[in-house]
Amino acid sequence: MVGRKVGIVGSGFVGATAAYSLSLLGSCHEVVLYDIVPEVAKGKAIDIGQSTCYSRHGTIVSAAETPEEMCHCDIVVITAGVPRRSEMTRADLLMINAKIMKQVVHDIKKNSPNAIVLVVSNPLDVMTYIALKETGWERHRILGMAGALDGSRMAYQIHQKVGYGSGQTRAIVIGDHGQHMIPYPEISAVGGVPLDQIVDREAMDQIIARTKDGGAEIVKYLGTSAYYAPGRAIAVMVEAILDDSRIVIPSSVLLDGEYGYRDVTVGVPVVLGSRGIEQIIELELNDDLKTKFKSSVASIQEGIDLLKEGGFF
Ligand code: 2OP
Repeated sequence: MVGRKVGIVGSGFVGATAAYSLSLLGSCHEVVLYDIVPEVAKGKAIDIGQSTCYSRHGTIVSAAETPEEMCHCDIVVITAGVPRRSEMTRADLLMINAKIMKQVVHDIKKNSPNAIVLVVSNPLDVMTYIALKETGWERHRILGMAGALDGSRMAYQIHQKVGYGSGQTRAIVIGDHGQHMIPYPEISAVGGVPLDQIVDREAMDQIIARTKDGGAEIVKYLGTSAYYAPGRAIAVMVEAILDDSRIVIPSSVLLDGEYGYRDVTVGVPVVLGSRGIEQIIELELNDDLKTKFKSSVASIQEGIDLLKEGGFF
């Protein structure tokens, strides 16, 4: 266990819930929280640290007061950024969060030079692209968490619809973490039974629509972004990397010819292991999905281009 150190930049609801999930699961030896407001990181680290007394595995939970204090991490999770409010789209957040991301990434590069970086800040795919460009690291070390969350939302919607198979549902969502995300019923299943054999077209369309609306639905009720499902989704990815378990989870990664695209980050199924992305799985998309994937990539490219035009890089 020694050496399994995870840093979390941003100690808001998402970062703290990820830290809490990791400590409950006993996934790592040490979790370090950082926040632009040091008291927030400190208070949450103490609170989560005090909960570990009843966990099956001990986890050291601490707070870094400066970026330099969060050092030599094996994985750094970036949740820092301004959260999306009801009136905002994810794209509205672009410029504000891009600047925050640039600074955070430079600190990681300096203080945890061997880390794998898991990006969670929104707009997710563009932030992942920034992390890649600003580190200059190999693409297998930088990935964005979105498919793990959107897939869990789709699994929830499937269960709401069919009423069985809780914990047995595997749902896949690819593409961007935004308006053009692609819930993929053709390769989703309940207990191994293909989804299209147990729900009709109308139910399928509702599952897809509600999955795509998953983040916004929470914002509508809470006035702030979701955090339990995102926190748990982060933990599942961190654990897969630390354990080198090589599970398949759609994640935002830099494409270099796969799916016919280059120099853009987008969610596709990948194998997660100790190197981060061990392998990108290239699905055979039918014409309809190719069109959807194209729109999805275009929406991300638009954000990247806006940053380029604004002289960000
Ligand atoms: C969500 O979809 C915040 O991106 C996160 O809820």
